[in-house]
Amino acid sequence: MEKIQEKIRKLAKEKGYMILAHNYQIKEIQEIADHLGDSLQLARLATKLNAEKILFLGVDFMAETIKMLNPEKKVIVPVKAATCPMANSLDPEMIIEAKKKYNAPFVIYVNSTMKSKMYADVACTSANAVEIVKKLNSDVVLFGPDKNLAAYVARKTGKKVIPVPGETGYCYVHNYIKIDDVLKLKQKYPDAKVISHPEVPEEIQKVSDYIGSTSQMEKIPGEIEDKKFIIVTEKDMVNKLKNKYKEKEFIPVDTAICNNMKKNTLKNVLKALENEEFEIEIDKEIADKAVLPIKKMFELME
Ligand code: 13P
Ligand code: SF4
Repeated sequence: MEKIQEKIRKLAKEKGYMILAHNYQIKEIQEIADHLGDSLQLARLATKLNAEKILFLGVDFMAETIKMLNPEKKVIVPVKAATCPMANSLDPEMIIEAKKKYNAPFVIYVNSTMKSKMYADVACTSANAVEIVKKLNSDVVLFGPDKNLAAYVARKTGKKVIPVPGETGYCYVHNYIKIDDVLKLKQKYPDAKVISHPEVPEEIQKVSDYIGSTSQMEKIPGEIEDKKFIIVTEKDMVNKLKNKYKEKEFIPVDTAICNNMKKNTLKNVLKALENEEFEIEIDKEIADKAVLPIKKMFELME
């Protein structure tokens, strides 16, 4: 471990912070986390934590979800501006309008704002979107904001899944991965299996051997004999895989970088612990409503 990493670990222990980080954090941050996971794992963990203080390393909607589930705990982040542009592409008005037009349940991807969550019926993450939609007692479902995940869910469930806002709802990191780049990697590594995140465009989903959230991506190499994998998601995901499966080879898509996830650095993580800021503050009235679809999601998963 580098000196600064040791300092961070020591200070977190002294001040009683539990460090939670998302799988897309840089390798050096992954190494200092108490828990590293995908959106679902981190949200679930948040309901069971016995630490009073949490340092969260990811983007804002994830930190807000943790705070909503633990309103009494102190949740801090190093950079307030680490946000998710896709989450910000869905407005409450779009949900209200779509529900009026189609009279169908609205499934909101956890990558969304608190204000939008207030108007949804149930939340989901990429790990459980198919399961949640299957369990709903409706053949027509409104889904947002990610149109690519919506298309994946439609294919897997056979239901009519209407994406909201539609064409403009996507993650730029995944949506702009080029099919040609994936095909070139497949050509270069013909014996590699392709594992993709469901936020990639449908044409890439269709040439993939496996599709799953970042935690599901982590399980697959342990379940099959194959030794080489092309990982079609944010490029830092491969750090976790390389660390876990030392005898296997993981090939990233080097162009897939989430700039917001990269706003967290070892330097500002240390500063966050020193100053115990920036604290996530949420409006109680909004949070009390926004947490309901998340609780409904947990209920449906039982
Ligand atoms: P996961 O829930 O699969 O970790 O995905 C979160 C995310 O932001 C994907 O871009
Ligand atoms: Fe948002 Fe995409 Fe970054 Fe995930 S990878 S946080 S969906 S911008």
